[in-house]
Amino acid sequence: MLTRYVEAASSYAQDIDGLITLITVLVGFWFLVAQAVLFGLIFRFRAKQGVKAQYISGEEKSQKRWVTIPHMLVLVCDVFIIVGAVRVWTDVKQTLPPADHTVRIVSQQWAWTFIQPGPDGKLDTEDDIKTIDELHVKEGATYHFQLLSRDVLHSFSVPAFRLKQDAVPGRLITGWFKPTRPGAYDIQCAEICGIGHGIMAARLFVETPEEHQKWMEKLSPVARAPTPQAEAEQENTPPAEGASAGAGAE
Ligand code: CUA
Repeated sequence: MLTRYVEAASSYAQDIDGLITLITVLVGFWFLVAQAVLFGLIFRFRAKQGVKAQYISGEEKSQKRWVTIPHMLVLVCDVFIIVGAVRVWTDVKQTLPPADHTVRIVSQQWAWTFIQPGPDGKLDTEDDIKTIDELHVKEGATYHFQLLSRDVLHSFSVPAFRLKQDAVPGRLITGWFKPTRPGAYDIQCAEICGIGHGIMAARLFVETPEEHQKWMEKLSPVARAPTPQAEAEQENTPPAEGASAGAGAE
């Protein structure tokens, strides 16, 4: 239902949408029933000439049923909501599926810094790629994120992923996501963090593996310098017309 308004671009987006739909349908059903009963009774027992109003204490069995039966039925619906919610919560927040990549997300007043491994696949090495207010990820890969804050509380919110996670100063918070749909999406800070909170936004780019590889080659400081292996390959292959030196040539 929600996908009509905000595209679903992560593996668990559908589960969260399904949960919201379930809650909307169950709560909506009881809302309509309650309103129908209320207005039905108002109409049925409206003021009539010559009829005295009744005083009803609600203590008789037949009267109590109006409360106890719906109460039980609503509780049964609650069980469905609770079971659904716990299942989704466990999947999204409690479990950490094995990661293909890790990205470090540093929040501060009022910008996002994204640090991800370069071609060596390891963080904290010299080929790390650092971007500001722009996160590039690969479709179909599972990412772990390490969320940090340099100053105050922030919240990393990606509506298209149905992901929201607070950043707390002094804590490193780990979570995961798996992008499933290429495109450009919004990232927004979702925790009041000072006068620039409203403009603490970023862009998320979900790319196909080929696009992502090109982006990485363009940005990684090490990928641009040819590795010994790449140099050996270059010597063996005749230079293509118009090709520039180094990796990243099309
Ligand atoms: Cu950072 Cu609001």
